[in-house]
Amino acid sequence: MKPVKVGICGLGTVGGGTFNVLTTNAQNIARRAGREIIIAQVAARHANPACDTSNTDVTDDVFAVARNPDIDVLVELIGGYDVARKLVLMAIENGKHVVTANKALIAVHGEEIFAAAEAKGVSVMYEAAVAGGIPIIKAVREGLAANRINWLAGIINGTGNFILTEMRDKGRDFSDVLKEAQELGYAEADPTFDVEGIDAAHKLTILASIAYGIPLQFERCYTEGISRITREDVEYAEELGYRIKHLGISCQTERGIDLRVHPTLIPESRPIAKVDGVLNAVMANGNAVGDTLYVGAGAGAGPTASAVVADIIDLARTMEADPLARVNHLAFDRIEDEAVLPIEEVETAYYLRIPVLDQAGVLASVATILSEKGINIEAIIQKEPKEEESLAQIILLTHRILEKNMNKAIADIEALPSTVGEVTRIRVEHLS
Ligand code: HSE
Repeated sequence: MKPVKVGICGLGTVGGGTFNVLTTNAQNIARRAGREIIIAQVAARHANPACDTSNTDVTDDVFAVARNPDIDVLVELIGGYDVARKLVLMAIENGKHVVTANKALIAVHGEEIFAAAEAKGVSVMYEAAVAGGIPIIKAVREGLAANRINWLAGIINGTGNFILTEMRDKGRDFSDVLKEAQELGYAEADPTFDVEGIDAAHKLTILASIAYGIPLQFERCYTEGISRITREDVEYAEELGYRIKHLGISCQTERGIDLRVHPTLIPESRPIAKVDGVLNAVMANGNAVGDTLYVGAGAGAGPTASAVVADIIDLARTMEADPLARVNHLAFDRIEDEAVLPIEEVETAYYLRIPVLDQAGVLASVATILSEKGINIEAIIQKEPKEEESLAQIILLTHRILEKNMNKAIADIEALPSTVGEVTRIRVEHLS
């Protein structure tokens, strides 16, 4: 069979990794694909010292790759929304298949891109867009195809997990760990995407679509970051037998789809609670299979390249097949528009930390408010004021309750004369 000619756009961390994996593993890859895969062109604004491109056609114009008639597969690794969208649409228009690691592009412009690809009979592959080296797209889209997926929960941002782990284990400073994640090539170009949960929301949007057969609805994903997590919350959570993780969570409930990214307390006995550092992990629960857990590196050159190259190999095997025989872009032949629940309608358990004056009756007044709102307390601890402070802390865990009811209870607690400042609320999930 004739070789597949690939054009790589972007030679940063992931582009460089893809170049090197395709080069180093060329023989093994050709054996798997049944044909050679050749890097016919690379577009990069800067050389990558980790890549020997001396025998490769290199341009600084990514659109030259989309126009190059020799290229069968355009590999989009430039990131971002606008130029990447234009590039991918141009490649599709020119009859090329596309492989991308760009979760922002797929979460926000996926519908338009897939429609263009289907009209042209080409495929857009995006395994590397979610959880880096973990083949989670294939697992959910194909491996779990027999199931009704009940829920998904994942640590799907390596930078955030790295920051939370280093803060907990080494008492390191937030900004210091973030800087290291940037130097290691884990963080997004704009690291607020990592710490504010936007990157995880892109990935969760994609996962939920292929799990439930719903449209990509990034704008409806509730997103809350980790920048307000304090060391004391991490310590109190541990005292209660929990770990704080930044989770993307999606459930298919009778009232609609739950789609949210936020810091979450999870019992330390759950295997996913022990997934630390830059590792990612996704749990998927299906009605036939039960719980499944996938763990691996979610960022970095090699792991992300592993997913990109797997997509190229899949394309090499199927690109000459009837497009109808290929797996659907969003896993389902028929996409159904199920409502995504606003966060106020989501039901979950809570961790609350309430800074209070050290006075008699304070605990009772908090308990009265919760009981009036039908909120059942599961555990409670009260911390004496530290030597230099006058405030005590009430820390409690509740049973599951609608968020809108918890909002009312928190407003009432904050209005108590004994409450000083804001109540810290972190959602709790038992993942069972
Ligand atoms: N910034 C992302 C992360 C890279 O830290 O997980 C992989 O998508």
